[in-house]
Amino acid sequence: MSLDFKVADLSLADFGRREIRLAEHEMPGLMAMRAEYGDSKPLTGARITGSLHMTVQTAVLIETLVALGAQVRWASCNIFSTQDHAAAAIAVGPDGTVEAPAGVPVFAWKGETLEEYWWCTEQALTWPDAPGPNMILDDGGDATLLVHKGVEYEKAGVVPEPADDDPEEWRVVLGLLKRSLAESQSRWTALAQEIKGVTEETTTGVHRLYEMMRDGALLFPGINVNDSVTKSKFDNKYGCRHSLIDGINRATDVLIGGKVAVVCGYGDVGKGCAESLRGQGARVVVTEIDPICALQAAMDGYEVTTLDDVIERADIVITATGNRDVITADHLARAKHQAIVGNIGHFDNEIDMAGLAAVPGIVRTEIKPQVHEWTFPDGHTVIVLSEGRLLNLGNATGHPSFVMSNSFTNQVLAQIELFTKTADYPLGVYTLPKHLDEKVARLHLDALGVKLTQLTPAQASYLGIPAEGPYKSEHYRY
Ligand code: NAI
Repeated sequence: MSLDFKVADLSLADFGRREIRLAEHEMPGLMAMRAEYGDSKPLTGARITGSLHMTVQTAVLIETLVALGAQVRWASCNIFSTQDHAAAAIAVGPDGTVEAPAGVPVFAWKGETLEEYWWCTEQALTWPDAPGPNMILDDGGDATLLVHKGVEYEKAGVVPEPADDDPEEWRVVLGLLKRSLAESQSRWTALAQEIKGVTEETTTGVHRLYEMMRDGALLFPGINVNDSVTKSKFDNKYGCRHSLIDGINRATDVLIGGKVAVVCGYGDVGKGCAESLRGQGARVVVTEIDPICALQAAMDGYEVTTLDDVIERADIVITATGNRDVITADHLARAKHQAIVGNIGHFDNEIDMAGLAAVPGIVRTEIKPQVHEWTFPDGHTVIVLSEGRLLNLGNATGHPSFVMSNSFTNQVLAQIELFTKTADYPLGVYTLPKHLDEKVARLHLDALGVKLTQLTPAQASYLGIPAEGPYKSEHYRY
């Protein structure tokens, strides 16, 4: 059977392959996984459905999973985040050709519609010779959500009608599941039964998993990859420190130095964003709801106030909260002329785009794809990046390889754990054991020329920890 896939342009595969080759050198953790497990192939028999930004770095992850024995099908987890050359290279595969693609079934292109996005997610979950995947690798939880909602509505025997105020995206999901239920009353139930577990990449998806666990709705165990220290304290922070300003620069090329830049949310992502904007010489203001993070921001030297307070003097406003309605249409109505507004959180509800579009008399002008000027009736404009979706992947290419190597090495270890030690993970949400977290860090030290100090036996016994680690207790916060 010929490979099933859908990408923008297969002829980009050579370009993608060249960038994958460079990325492999910058992803020592993933390459160490290939060296360690390439012969024993612990993922043999795994059918992994991945829903994660289809970038060059993700291509290295996918090919690592394949090298470890897995079969893989892939979709992106955002309509703008696919790098078309990476998707093409994954479809063609290292041994295939454009005429005879022999890679991984991938369904992803930059600029999908919402219908196309959910079609791609469904394709990644649809396996030719099996009810579905037996593992999910998710980013934001959309693949997991589709399975759970499919099962819920099959049990109920009906898909609910969308409410008037439901977002467009939810209408699309309900439409897809309605069609699916008309064709089969047991498709998602059969599919879910095969799934050993999900490994979840990001804060927002992890929230969803814990919520489903709390509500008794979770159907299979999950590993929270986000809260590996070598993920959230690196990718979320240092990754965004790199890719936030990359996105702003590619989108606008506005000088950041001297400008007032607001960062909403001072969690891991917000900390990286604030640091990068300050590094460019911006005068950074932080907003927070959590007194601890607000105090941290103040101690780090940032002004901390509310968005209401600062909006009229802000040149750049970035949301990094994972929360909804953080920037409202009212805020934007009061914003400075040509203020730049962007979201680096996972979903597009941080900025009230629907509210903005509903302002009477407002005009939207495309400057270029993923950069839009919105003109209010009084003549002032705001520049919205990536239509309110995460701008570092929409306007730039996301985080660089080295930091993603940390995140994705956690993903590979989490997939191996759940797939090979299924009985050790009854229904629940878990983080990886600390010795694996430390292993991920260790795998990235040589590339940076880091020399670790060895504990002496006397020191180890003085601290009461093994000389080879783990070095910290579970509650240590780094
Ligand atoms: P976090 O939980 O560490 O930080 C979010 C912060 O926002 C918290 O401190 C919270 O108190 C604050 N917050 C919540 N509502 C707020 C409001 N209304 N106003 C001001 N502050 C508010 O989460 P983290 O890890 O920083 O992630 C944030 C978002 O970014 C999530 O959606 C996550 O999935 C996403 N993410 C995006 C990445 C990217 O490459 N674009 C990379 C990693 C995470």
